[in-house]
Amino acid sequence: MYFGADYYPEHWPEERWEQDARLMQEAGLNVIRMAEFAWTYMEPREGEFNFGWLDRAIALFGSYGIRSVLGTPTAAPPAWIMAAHPDAALVREDGVRVTYGSRRTYCPNHGEYRRHSARIVRAMAEHFAGNPNVIGWQIDNEFGGRCYCPTCQAAFQEWLKNRYGTLEALNEAWGTVFWSHIYTAWEQIPLPWSTTGIHNPGLALNYRRFMSDSYVDYQRQQLEIIRAADPGVPITHNLMGFGYPNLNYFDLAADLDWVSWDNYPRFMGQPDAARRALAHDTMRGLKGKPFWVMEEQAGPTGQNTVAMAPRPGEIPFWSWEAIAHGADGIVFFRWRTARFGGEEYWHGILDHHGIPGRRYNEVKEMGAVIRRLGDRLVGSAPRSQVAMLLSYDSRFALQNQPHNRYLDYPQAFMALYRGLRTLNAGIDIVSPSASLDGYSVVVAPMLYILEPQLAEKLTAYVRAGGTLVVTARSGVMDVDNTVVEDWLPGLLREVCGVTVQEYDSLDDGRSVPVEGSSVCSVPAGNATAWADVLALEGAEAMARFAGEYYAGKPTITRNRFGKGQAIYLATVPDEGLAESLASWLGRETGLSSPVPAEAGLEVLERVTQGGSYLFLLNNSARALSADIGKGGLEYVTENRLSGIISVPPMGVRIIAREE
Ligand code: GLA
Ligand code: ZN
Repeated sequence: MYFGADYYPEHWPEERWEQDARLMQEAGLNVIRMAEFAWTYMEPREGEFNFGWLDRAIALFGSYGIRSVLGTPTAAPPAWIMAAHPDAALVREDGVRVTYGSRRTYCPNHGEYRRHSARIVRAMAEHFAGNPNVIGWQIDNEFGGRCYCPTCQAAFQEWLKNRYGTLEALNEAWGTVFWSHIYTAWEQIPLPWSTTGIHNPGLALNYRRFMSDSYVDYQRQQLEIIRAADPGVPITHNLMGFGYPNLNYFDLAADLDWVSWDNYPRFMGQPDAARRALAHDTMRGLKGKPFWVMEEQAGPTGQNTVAMAPRPGEIPFWSWEAIAHGADGIVFFRWRTARFGGEEYWHGILDHHGIPGRRYNEVKEMGAVIRRLGDRLVGSAPRSQVAMLLSYDSRFALQNQPHNRYLDYPQAFMALYRGLRTLNAGIDIVSPSASLDGYSVVVAPMLYILEPQLAEKLTAYVRAGGTLVVTARSGVMDVDNTVVEDWLPGLLREVCGVTVQEYDSLDDGRSVPVEGSSVCSVPAGNATAWADVLALEGAEAMARFAGEYYAGKPTITRNRFGKGQAIYLATVPDEGLAESLASWLGRETGLSSPVPAEAGLEVLERVTQGGSYLFLLNNSARALSADIGKGGLEYVTENRLSGIISVPPMGVRIIAREE
């Protein structure tokens, strides 16, 4: 298992490197990521390369048993490139070109920027190819942003030609007859720049798809170069978890060898275990494989501001939690806090002075356990009984037409996840094209854009015995963001056995109480953001609205269909309703935790060949217990444990179980 830190040798005198290597080794670190912002340092002038410092760093750290992941440096464009190609700078939605500074300022479609990127990547890959200390590559850094420049406009028009073939087809699909937006030449098609008002939804959604594809394509160029020069060395990119809204991460991950992501639990507001869990499950779900945390918070975050320090124990807790969710590598950001530049307050394991302190000691303590346990876990994965379907198409479309301030795709997703998570049954986050075989429950929040193949797959899943949960705002749009000509939920109407007679946007933030009916015991909670007024067409009501003019109408329905059942949730649930729904689903479908545990204890199990490792994580302020039955060796305390055991606040227990 890899356990390490992001390291910037170019920020420190070379005489210091060895001391860093020694301190890392003592803390059990065995990997560093380097070079992802060092373009000008490596190539001060076009074609003039300076890799000596990096060769020496790789070799020195290698001699301490610390391997390297090398980042391609394209996220931070050199001043000399951007001065030569002013039009390589990204243009914002308001049409303003960004000025030099910061990072992520380039246009991913710009030909000259791509030519320069290809050169530095090729030079690096050829130079470091075959170096036994280089165990991986990272492409660029945290892809994201949207460019609205003329190059992107031309590329978008080409992309649309490929997608639609003819202008007639595009005009028809988007309904451009509305407001006389009919295009008579491809060159007329704009990007959705800020204008006097709103854009055609077909244009807006396709631009978001196109921009996501642009980064996927930009990444592919680098992947091909590295794979040709340094074959067999795995390549990743550091993504940004569930929360990042602008890229289709399934597409981005498909081309990579492994997924990694950047986890900063105390970056914004109070840390939230469910949010972290969802991010980990999403990152694991992108390839259905173990992942790394390439940047794990190691100190107070901040650039011009300074956020709250990680409380004692939090850094290892967050790291174990990532491992419990399937991480095979933890890399802390960063080794030592920078003394200059835009992130002087983004703290690393060591403070500015470079002397080990409390946070270093916490990492070191964890490093000792990793040394005993880490390699046994590599490659194993949690076992999940539930799948949640993540549709970037629906998310993109709802960004353009958010309906109201309270209806939010990620928030609705999170609300359902939060409820289900209390069951400890394991949750995989899967793409709309994933196989659903083997899942007891599939939850598909707000499938706003719904393609016929997906509707058919979900229907087949239910027919074969699965339990499907569908929510309000599903089946609304076809693939072009045009409203279906049917009762909602459109293509899911038959399997759900309901029709939406009308709907009510809860746009003032009010919630509507929901009560369990006599038919079942789903207890109370609240509807938020949206309310569908349903007519039953074969389904039975499980819970009903207890307010508004639709009091008594169903909020949750169940339709027995084939060998399975489809549950329709006519709203976005608040926490109470989400938990009630989850516990009812759990009882109905036999979802179970790996071991019985007190509410609030997170239980996960990573299954390996011939056995498994049980993780008990207590993210609360009081001790919580679980019954681990015959139990086994526990890796943190190094005791044999069995029966009912107690886990202290912020405590982690990892128990080897033989099968
Ligand atoms: C991101 C980046 C890093 C660094 C940290 C802290 O995750 O990938 O380069 O900037 O944030 O801001
Ligand atoms: Zn552009």
